[in-house]
Amino acid sequence: MKWSLVLQFLALGANATPLTGGALSCQDIEIPVSVSAQNKNLPLTLGLDTLKDTGALNRLVAGLTSSLVHGTYTIHARYCEPTEQVASRRDTLQVLVHGITYTLDYWSGDLPPGTSAGQDEYSWIKYAANQGYPTLSIDRLCNGASSRPNGLVFCQLPLQAEVIHAIVEAARNGTLPEAKQSFDRIICVGHSYGSLVANGHSTQYPDDVDAYIFTGYSDVLTQGEAGVAVLSLFLPAAVVSPTEFGGLLLDPTYLLSSSKNGTKSVEFYGDYDAEFVQYDLDHRGTVTLGEVATGTLGQIPAPHFKGAVFVLNGNEDGIFCEDGPVQALATVPGNCSKGYSSGVASHYPAASKFGYYNTANTGHCLNIHLTAQESFKHAHNFLSEAGF
Ligand SMILES: *[C@@H]1O[C@H](CO)[C@@H](O)[C@H](O)[C@H]1NC(C)=O
Ligand SMILES: *[C@@H]1O[C@H](CO)[C@@H](O)[C@H](O)[C@H]1NC(C)=O
Ligand SMILES: *[C@@H]1O[C@H](CO)[C@@H](O)[C@H](O)[C@H]1NC(C)=O
Repeated sequence: MKWSLVLQFLALGANATPLTGGALSCQDIEIPVSVSAQNKNLPLTLGLDTLKDTGALNRLVAGLTSSLVHGTYTIHARYCEPTEQVASRRDTLQVLVHGITYTLDYWSGDLPPGTSAGQDEYSWIKYAANQGYPTLSIDRLCNGASSRPNGLVFCQLPLQAEVIHAIVEAARNGTLPEAKQSFDRIICVGHSYGSLVANGHSTQYPDDVDAYIFTGYSDVLTQGEAGVAVLSLFLPAAVVSPTEFGGLLLDPTYLLSSSKNGTKSVEFYGDYDAEFVQYDLDHRGTVTLGEVATGTLGQIPAPHFKGAVFVLNGNEDGIFCEDGPVQALATVPGNCSKGYSSGVASHYPAASKFGYYNTANTGHCLNIHLTAQESFKHAHNFLSEAGF
């Protein structure tokens, strides 16, 4: 068994991304997509100052018209095989969509060598693989190693939702590179902005996937987003980190947090490993102004979605479970138990099954807290109860 895996990794060559901790076998792949969407006509003058008042930004965007945009892109993704063979799950694919200022690595629980907690502890992929699920984690369009078109015109929620649709179609058609099979059931799992995109996708394509798992999510984003928008002190990515993001110099709408402490105060709470959270803060990705401006398009009722829906939050989520902007800016811990997680049910009235779980003593980036295994377990128990 061990030897065959070693050989398998050697055979995969430079593209292979073997993760430590046992038999997990993954490959990084590039998925070509050609997508069109009705994106918002954001003013080209939209500047960083708009982040100071997200309420005003949301009102502005709600009043804007939309135009059809089109593009052909490469989506970077990681396909991982199950480590346990569960026949009923072999053709069920979990598509994992990361949040703002992360990449697909969020789902792998990637860790610096030698940290106290094991990498596997934070790996959604590993947990899913042990339950028999293949996974496809993607770098959202405009993030990580995926294409980076103009951050204002193209990097918006509607176009990102179309990318999910294209990937689901390829998975069902059996045309995902390296997967070498077709999938008959799809579970879309989002975190934070990835959940917002997933909600947008569910309103546009209610028959695409069989289940959504929304993590780091509620339908009251507008109450807490001021905290992350202001305290992260976003600046053009090429200015904050010229070595890493100098290539984005010509597009100042690609942003990077310039306050690790500010980011930490809104995204972490309670039980976490300080060393790992520092690593997480040191390896942050970008967000574009167009992404931020269209976030509320992921807060929409999806009355036609008939599959299963699960909401999983760190109970003290400081973005999606805040009582209002004042509390968010003051970094008062959120409380998802106040009906914020359960409230998502109202947007999915036709769901075949709805469930939620709030992991205690945990913040927004729930995969990177010491409670991660508890969170993963509840999501997968729900899937099992929903017939997956
Ligand atoms: C999937 O198959 C359908 C029907 O054969 C086809 O129209 C579509 O272009 C295919 N999509 C992808 C992404 O392969
Ligand atoms: C970090 O953020 C916390 C919470 O907002 C604040 O109390 C603290 O003073 C900040 N520390 C630094 C060094 O900025
Ligand atoms: C969170 O909300 C629940 C439900 O309203 C309440 O029972 C609990 O005391 C609240 N927790 C805090 C810390 O306020």
